[in-house]
Amino acid sequence: MSNERSSFTGKIGFVLAAAGSAVGLGNIWRFPYLAARYGGGMFLLVYVILSVTFGFSLMVAEIALGRKTQQSPIGAFRSLDKRFSFVGLLASLVPVIILPYYSVIGGWVLKYFVGFMTGEAGSMAESTYFNDYIAGAGQPLLWFAVFIGITALIVLFGVQKGIEKVSKVMMPALVVLMLFIVIYTIATMDGAWDGVLYYITPDFSHFSIMTVVAAMGQLFYSMSLAMGIMITFGSYMKKDISIEKSTHQIEIFDTGIAFLAGLMIVPAVYAFSGGDASALKQGPGLMFVTLPKIFETIPGGTVLGAVFFFMVLLAALTSGISLMETIVSTVMDKVKIGRKTCCLIVLGFSFLLGLPSSLGFSQAWSWVRPLGMNMLDFFDFVSNNLIMPVVAFFTCLFIGYFLKPKTLIEELEVSGPFRAKGLFSVMIRYVAPLCVLLILVSSVLNAFGVIVI
Ligand code: PFF
Repeated sequence: MSNERSSFTGKIGFVLAAAGSAVGLGNIWRFPYLAARYGGGMFLLVYVILSVTFGFSLMVAEIALGRKTQQSPIGAFRSLDKRFSFVGLLASLVPVIILPYYSVIGGWVLKYFVGFMTGEAGSMAESTYFNDYIAGAGQPLLWFAVFIGITALIVLFGVQKGIEKVSKVMMPALVVLMLFIVIYTIATMDGAWDGVLYYITPDFSHFSIMTVVAAMGQLFYSMSLAMGIMITFGSYMKKDISIEKSTHQIEIFDTGIAFLAGLMIVPAVYAFSGGDASALKQGPGLMFVTLPKIFETIPGGTVLGAVFFFMVLLAALTSGISLMETIVSTVMDKVKIGRKTCCLIVLGFSFLLGLPSSLGFSQAWSWVRPLGMNMLDFFDFVSNNLIMPVVAFFTCLFIGYFLKPKTLIEELEVSGPFRAKGLFSVMIRYVAPLCVLLILVSSVLNAFGVIVI
């Protein structure tokens, strides 16, 4: 396997590919609703601090692990220490949980894109549209099936490269469009500036341990950490490219887009609702409820809306593709089946696993609420707040005390000096495992209602 490993052509190739996987619905859909829900500026501050310390160290560690072993996650851990093979296995489980519900949201985006193309923009701007839409079982299920079907077709025919090329052009265009929406909203909407202040000013009365739990879950999700993806990327990375610099670039890119998406959505929600807390806390529907309202106020907004949702769709597709590709290659490493068969099995399985997330909002199924959450939130919670912290904890434990940070620092220094050596060792050995453990315990106790935070 390892001798077939191809490499990225250059530094920018690696950064773009990793950033392509990192930037997706996590940035545009998930980050803004978490920021709105968990205290605006306070959430932002916690997120940025975690990102430059904890996120940085974990990403560097994962890429270095991959480059050192030249293997996929399961092989990487196994080849270094058999006792830690389970970490690779657990990490590989994460995309299996994420892909189905990611595709349900991809289906919502697809529906909104088609809606803007077919003259439904007006009704989509009504406050009740989104909730009525997801409550009707058939339509969301159909669009979910179409989204995951397209993803599978692309993976099946191996045309990812083409899609990635298109999306490399579209991503800068998406940034420009988001900037335009931000400026337009702030300039024209009464109360939007108060929303900007809510979004960027940390208010310590909004701080709770849940702010940290949510920020850390989001960090894993957004930077594609603790799920083996960066190990795989690292295994394709050439030895002369600086992991440290590349990580900084990916981090800035990923956090920048998330920040911009929040700036586009949170002040608008604030303006539309007059700062009403329940509007800010509404959760996964936030982007879908707010954006059509903004587009309705912009002259030519229907066209802009269609273009916007198309770009978000591309970002969602590239992420969906890399999730499915990861699952397919992990399965093919383990069992001897053809690529086509494997794709079809993964498609069928993911579709079945996505059914509860898609149907969970319909009247018939809305009573199914594990731990008081709807099914989509539940899967999101299991992957982001349970499995990923466990993977991150054991990754730190393994590197910090068994493999030793020195071994990875040597790998990192192959391509030049590693400036953040000290930070890296302290984070991996002490701060990160302790934080993750604390957060894991409190989020579990909170979910089971033992403590309320
Ligand atoms: N990081 C992606 C996002 O923020 O949307 C989610 C993701 C994509 C995770 C691809 C994993 C992955 F392989």
